[in-house]
Order: sequence, then structure tokens, then C-alpha cells
Amino acid sequence: MGFIEEIKRRRTFGIISHPDAGKTTLTEKLLLFGGAIHVAGAVKSNKIKKTATSDFMEIEKQRGISVATSVMGFEYNGCKVNILDTPGHQDFAEDTYRTLTAVDSVIIVIDAAKGVETQTRKLMEVCRMRNTPVMVFINKLDRPSKDPFDLLDEIEAELNISVRPLSWPIGNGNSFQGVYNIYENNLYLFTPSKQVLEDGIEINDVNDPKVEEYIGEGAANSLREEIELLNGVYPDFDREPYLAGQLAPVFFGSALNNFGVKELLHCFLNIAPSPRDSQSDIRIVKPDETKFSGFVFKIHANMDPNHRNRLAFVKICSGKFERNTNYYHVGIGKNMKFSSPTAFMADKKSIIDEAYPGDIIGIPDSGNFKIGDTLTEGEKIKFKGLPSFSPELFKYIENADPLKSKQLAKGIDQLMDEGVAQLFINQFNGRKIIGTVGALQFEVIQYRLLHEYSASCQYEPIQLYKACWMKSNDPNELAEFKKRKSQYMAKDKFGRDVFLADSSYMLQMAQETFKNIEFHFTSEFD
Ligand code: G4P
Repeated sequence: MGFIEEIKRRRTFGIISHPDAGKTTLTEKLLLFGGAIHVAGAVKSNKIKKTATSDFMEIEKQRGISVATSVMGFEYNGCKVNILDTPGHQDFAEDTYRTLTAVDSVIIVIDAAKGVETQTRKLMEVCRMRNTPVMVFINKLDRPSKDPFDLLDEIEAELNISVRPLSWPIGNGNSFQGVYNIYENNLYLFTPSKQVLEDGIEINDVNDPKVEEYIGEGAANSLREEIELLNGVYPDFDREPYLAGQLAPVFFGSALNNFGVKELLHCFLNIAPSPRDSQSDIRIVKPDETKFSGFVFKIHANMDPNHRNRLAFVKICSGKFERNTNYYHVGIGKNMKFSSPTAFMADKKSIIDEAYPGDIIGIPDSGNFKIGDTLTEGEKIKFKGLPSFSPELFKYIENADPLKSKQLAKGIDQLMDEGVAQLFINQFNGRKIIGTVGALQFEVIQYRLLHEYSASCQYEPIQLYKACWMKSNDPNELAEFKKRKSQYMAKDKFGRDVFLADSSYMLQMAQETFKNIEFHFTSEFD
């Protein structure tokens, strides 16, 4: 197969949802259809359950599962499908944001009884930043659900995207009879089953008398009315606005019962984009360029405490990647060769000789990579889309064992490379400050420093509101600001200046006084 065909047949996407909406279940069913697994229950949820806050063995177990399920690849109907897993726990939201930079589209799972929830809303904002094409799967129709029209209105209003249903539920809960597939003009009848992968019943249109035969007269009449109504309300599906991230096709089903999943997959493979262009700091990189380029979006470290093993996950943006070939690590300005890059097929890892745009490869790493690093054939570019976000919580981190200060410094350094949290060094007093999205990360850091680096740390409180990255075209004003606020100035891991505002009032005052300085809650703003 030629290079272009290889690119065209790839679908790299992420499944996102509010915890418990059914992301893991849907992933598993897609893998079942793809033949990548053979029994339900093979994919373990990488959720860190709420009760696990102090159960660190659980966290370690989850990390193990999450490396196995980070990328799940399979072949289906001539397509190479790559599903990228995202952590369910909101304290690891930044991990999810980074993973979303490596996907070409997403499927959002929504619980039919609960509708749009907080985490769905937040993740959708990230998709919007990159105009990622979005498809919606409304799940759990086998349970009492909200009215489907209300759900569609809720999605449009809360996720700020137009919708176009491509399937329609017939009843819900105990009266759930199946779905009418508008995209394929099929009727799928519901039989609760976790294993059967059923085909639909061919009908030519919803007015076919066969519909009565299968679902009864009452249900058939309501179905027809509803389809007529929705065809009046929603324009025909158009792929262009979908690809531009403006229109979300919607499917209904029950992932647990394997219901509505196959239609979703078929439609997805037809309409979802193959690898898209990637934005670098200098130019747009097209997937079909012959020269290889890619970036690191995730690092997984120290799964085996006896070996300092790290795995850097690289998304290929352009060209063909080949094993044992010299590539240029833009961050450190050196050529490197990789002898054992791995690909992920279902839950297996295997060494590969080549990979194409859209693919994710794992590169064993001894500490050369940071999240956001770019690899090329020599061109000095840096891919965009992997900013640091202002943390929500901050604490001073101190050494609790004076004999282990080197271990502590190394441990902190490596955990930050992995993106577990962010480190700021206060320029006034030289103290280290850790910033996180959620409280759980502080405990994870303390636990991992002890178990992986034999280092003990303790935290001390610090009252901070936000970390702000700054930009100004008035160097004098910037210098004056840094002087005046020297107690609040820090450097981030990349040596950039960061203003640590202790309250929203302080930030507001700074904005009013220093009008030529822009303050940003993310490190990428051009
Ligand atoms: P998540 O990854 O989005 O957090 O959700 P997950 O798939 O783990 O699903 C959350 C719960 O919802 C699970 O139940 C799962 O079995 C259930 N579920 C998923 N899809 C459906 C569906 O279509 N219908 C119904 N009725 N339930 C569904 P659990 O009791 O939390 O876990 P488990 O013990 O079943 O694994």
C-alpha cells in the first residue's frame, strides 16, 4: 500500500466523557467489533475511584492499566483505527488535554439520563480550541432517559455546537425497542445482550409497513412523527461543518448491550477525518509531507521500579517513521536513533519497523524527552497545542530528608517531565512551588518520590490564585513590573517568567496598572 493510502485509512481519535457515562464500556465494545479483544470485560477502566484518594496501591494499579490502554489500535474494514484513552479522573485533566492534542477527532459519550455534565463541558472547550471534529454517542437508553429532543437542545446549548441526529431511539428504559438508523435507513431492534453483535433490519424508509411489524403500530406512528419533526428541525447532515468542528452527528444506543455501537463505528469510519494538518510555531505541517515529524504528548515512567524505564508517546504528524533512523530532537539539538519503537495493537505492544502519520509510537527513553518535544528530519520547528495551563492548587515542596536531596531533585525533575504537575521556582527566595489541577496529584507525587526515588518531601501551604505567563512589547514596563512584583515572580520548567498572583484582586490591579502587559493563564497565546 502506498504512503498516501496509509495516511488516508487512519482514524486516530479519543473517547471523552464525564466519569461513569460509559467511555470504558464503549471503548471495549469498539474493540470487540474490531476483533482486537474477544470477550467483554477485557478492558479495565483506568478510573481512579473516588475512594482511592489514600489507596496508593490502587493508583499504581491504575497506572499499570493506563499504560496498557493508552493507545488501542486495530484494523477494521480496511481502516487502521487508533483509540487514545484519556484519564477519567478530573484531577488528571491536564493529561486528558494533552492527549486531545494528539487526536484527529473525538467521540463524546453522554449519559441519556444525566445529559451534559461538568467534565463533558470542560473537555468540549478543549476540542473547540482546536476545532476538533466531534461525534456524540448518547448512552444508556436501556435505562429511563431524558427526552431525546431535550437532550439535543441541551447539547447545542451547553456544548455550543450544532447537532444532527443520525439515529433515533424508539422508547427508553423498559420500553426501549431499538433505534432507527437515519444514516443507513435501518431499523435495529433491541435485545439486551452483552455479547451478541447484531445486524440491523433493512428497511427502505421509515414509512415501510415492516416498521409496524417489528415495533407495533403505536411506536411506529410516534417514530414517524419524530423523524418528520427532526428532519424539519435539523438540516441534512453535511460533512464539511462536522470536519470544521461546528456540527456534531449524534447516535443513540446502549454500550453495555452492544447496541448502536456498530452503526456508530461504521458512520465514524466513513466520515471521521484521516490525520489532519499540525500547527508548528513556524508553519503548518501536512501529513503527506515526505519528511518525518512528530511530537511527544505523554510520558509514562517507572512502571518497573528496578529499571528507570520511561516510555515517550509520539504522535506522527508527517512522513514515514522508520526504526534505527537518525531523527533530530529539536529541544536538545541532537540526532537520535530509536532501536525499539513500539506500536500498540489492542492490549499488546510490539516493536515496529515503520509507522505513518496518525500513528502513535512508544519510544523507550532514558530521560531525553519532555512533553511537547518535537522530532524531525532536521527542521527546527516546535509543534503547538501543548501549553501549560495555570494550576488550580499550589504548595511549597520541601526536602524532608537532608541526606536525599539529590534524589528528591531528580525525582521532582522527572515527574515534571512526565507532566504530573508543574514546578515553579520563586525568583525571590529560590523555593520550589508545585502547582496541580487537583489535590490527588500532591499525594501521588509524595508517594512516587518515596517509592521510585527513595526521597521524602513535605508540603507547606502557600496562598496563590493563578500562575500567569506574560507578554509585552514594552520591555521597560515589563522590567518595572518584574522589579515591583519580585516576590511573586517565578520561572517555570522551561525558564519562562511567570507571575504568581495571590488573588484575583492582585491580578486585576496588575492589569490596570501595567496596561502594556498581557497576562495569560496558559503558556501558549500567540
Ligand atoms: P466511564 O469509563 O465513562 O467512567 O464509564 P464506564 O464505562 O466504566 O461505565 C460506568 C457504569 O455504567 C458501569 O457500571 C457500566 O457498566 C455502566 N454502563 C455503561 N454503559 C451502559 C449502558 O448502556 N446501560 C447501562 N444500564 N449501564 C451502562 P458500574 O456498575 O459502575 O461498573 P461495572 O461494575 O458494571 O463495571
